Amino acid sequence: MSRSEALDPIVSSVPVIPVVVLEDPAAAVPLARALVAGGLSVIEITLRTGAALHAIEAIASEVPGAIVGAGTVLSKGQLVSSARAGAQFIVTPGTNDDLLKAAEDSPVPIMPGAATATEVMTLMDAGYTIQKFFPAGPAGGIPYLKALAAPLPAIRFCPTGGIDAGNAADYLALSNVICVGGSWVVPADAIAAGDWSRIEGLARQAMALKGAL
Ligand code: 3PG
Repeated sequence: MSRSEALDPIVSSVPVIPVVVLEDPAAAVPLARALVAGGLSVIEITLRTGAALHAIEAIASEVPGAIVGAGTVLSKGQLVSSARAGAQFIVTPGTNDDLLKAAEDSPVPIMPGAATATEVMTLMDAGYTIQKFFPAGPAGGIPYLKALAAPLPAIRFCPTGGIDAGNAADYLALSNVICVGGSWVVPADAIAAGDWSRIEGLARQAMALKGAL
């Protein structure tokens, strides 16, 4: 049984998922509007700040067209509170037994993280055919993903960590990459300055990478 069916249309709809670290919850809605205006409608808000759950809630209720997910989900408690806040998908950097168990009852689809062949196989056995590959660059990047495709061609990845405008197209060209994730489209200084037009422009450029898929 595939546990990635409901996730597939979400991650297939965009070439890039912005990985957002938000300090100020008031920035959530204008930021999400700028990303959606630029075409990047799938947005990952990382649970690395106290603002994250409020941000997810605000985007889910106030930004039509946005598909907001929770990232950096490390525990069952975070999974449950993210879904309750309105997250439409969940991303984890890696996986442990507790998370895998909690994921079985999750009301929203999960993209669990893996970085080795063993981790990929463990998630595959649990039914996850779409996985986050993290941290993509430090773990081996494009050659590593190419090597995984030979024995594990059924698994598609969203590589994240070290992806930017300069290398995203090369990742997207791989047969086992479904989209990429990254923070380069949502720079901290642009968020802090409320420079939404810059973020919309970065989103537009990232959306143009669809051609690389
Ligand atoms: C993640 O949380 O998925 C990554 O840390 C984002 O990595 P980046 O900042 O290198 O894009």
